Amino acid sequence: MIIAIDGPAASGKTTVAALLADRLNYNMLDSGSMYRAVALLVIEGGASPDDELKAVEAAEKVAESMRFVSVGEGEFRLSIGGRDVTMDIRSQEVTEAVSPVSRLAGVRAIMAESQKRIAGADAVVEGRDIGTVVFPDAEEKFYLDAALAERAKRRYLEEMRKGTALTLEKVEADIRNRDKIDSSRELSPLARAQDAVYIDTTGKGIGEVVDEILGRIRGRR
Ligand code: DC
Repeated sequence: MIIAIDGPAASGKTTVAALLADRLNYNMLDSGSMYRAVALLVIEGGASPDDELKAVEAAEKVAESMRFVSVGEGEFRLSIGGRDVTMDIRSQEVTEAVSPVSRLAGVRAIMAESQKRIAGADAVVEGRDIGTVVFPDAEEKFYLDAALAERAKRRYLEEMRKGTALTLEKVEADIRNRDKIDSSRELSPLARAQDAVYIDTTGKGIGEVVDEILGRIRGRR
């Protein structure tokens, strides 16, 4: 069974998807990390994030050589061509380049195709267009959301643990900007699938959200 989880930046999708996959013993796929890996390769190659030719080359490399491996307790590592890029794809430079890269048609086509291949039969897949475009027939679909101020606070606390120099205001502005690009782009914009269950996670803990999703899945089966 495919469980699709979509939602805006910092809505808790990755953590929720990872815990859900652990509980169900399913594969988990963080599709955003694939777009981030493409953005990383583009930047490192010295190209602009709007350069479709270079971005498509990078997307092909990611699709051919990525390994997304669970290391337990909801933690995953991503490698491209044998190089561990788990930390590098979370840099501020990548975060700023990823939405422009994700707008490109050639990149999206390669990503969607490889996501279908990698997920397998039983998976929790999270992103922006999973329930709408990549897996429109997913058996279970959820759309996670939270107030912008709360999402910014969560992401800021995460960044603080890594020792960031970013301010809360900057984190909030980045999230707002990314959401704007992701939801207004022409191709596969961030959107709630008609048949997705909407969950507002504002004020809710991660465990509470995971239990709510599991409860809904079990209730329907
Ligand atoms: O989930 P995340 O914040 O790590 O995702 C990074 C970016 O990747 C996001 O701002 C837009 C893009 N993305 C996308 O276009 N489609 C997806 N299915 C997942 C992510």
